[in-house]
Amino acid sequence: MPHLTSIADVTNEQLDAILDAAGRFKAGQAPDLAGRIACMAFFEPSTRTRLSFEAAAHRSGASVIGFADGQTTSTSKGETIADSARVLGGYADVIVMRHPETGSVAQAAQHARVPVVNAGDGSGEHPTQTLLDIFTMREALGDLKGRQVALIGDLANGRTVHSLAPALQRLGATVVQVPAPGLAYPGDLPTMTLHEAAATSDVLYATRVQKERASQGEAPRIDAALLDSTQSKAIVMHPLPRVDELAPDVDALSGAKYFEQARNGVPVRMAVLAYALDAL
Ligand code: NCD
Repeated sequence: MPHLTSIADVTNEQLDAILDAAGRFKAGQAPDLAGRIACMAFFEPSTRTRLSFEAAAHRSGASVIGFADGQTTSTSKGETIADSARVLGGYADVIVMRHPETGSVAQAAQHARVPVVNAGDGSGEHPTQTLLDIFTMREALGDLKGRQVALIGDLANGRTVHSLAPALQRLGATVVQVPAPGLAYPGDLPTMTLHEAAATSDVLYATRVQKERASQGEAPRIDAALLDSTQSKAIVMHPLPRVDELAPDVDALSGAKYFEQARNGVPVRMAVLAYALDAL
């Protein structure tokens, strides 16, 4: 079953196929998902991920059911993830799930009779964010082999980077980190100062401190003065929402890609739904 609970679930060839399709969908084509039902099971707040998945489903002809707040579901009565997954899998052809517990989406995948897509599990992973991040990087830079990407901010509890770093390494990019104090990446990544990273990287990927996961402190802040003083050639990305780690004065610069990155969520998630439903 084409679950997507971790970025490790797709090979480089499958990743390329998904992103090639996303390119066609961004240019106006759409997969034919008429008659299929996608369930959006969001047990944790979301703006971009849920609404871009819903828009992707609608643009592909699929119908959408779901919820945006787990408190309105039987989870509040004590239902287990396994039982919820069994039940939702009986209603829909694919389940897109976000949940505050790390590992919960993989657990759901073990019990659902339909493909399960991870829309973010606690501090775990966020593989569809990685797909749209890589799509956006390729749009700006082409092949990522030999490119340097600096991951900045809360690399301990930010789940987007936990999917992104291994994917970039598989594609031949060099990944470096500029962690917020005490919030380093859980694996082995070279560390740089923000100035070094700005001066030498092709991509600056900023993330916010995940206060809801008990992270504390402040992320290094990117602003126009930093990019200017380091003569940075990097594109600037952020999964959003941003707080203080990315100044609004970057928005007008040509390297600012984060709103385009968010927009790319729709065609990339059209391709993810088509992949999960065997309709790519
Ligand atoms: C991210 C998430 O939920 O992990 N948001 C998103 O999906 N674009 C990043 C974050 O919340 O910091």
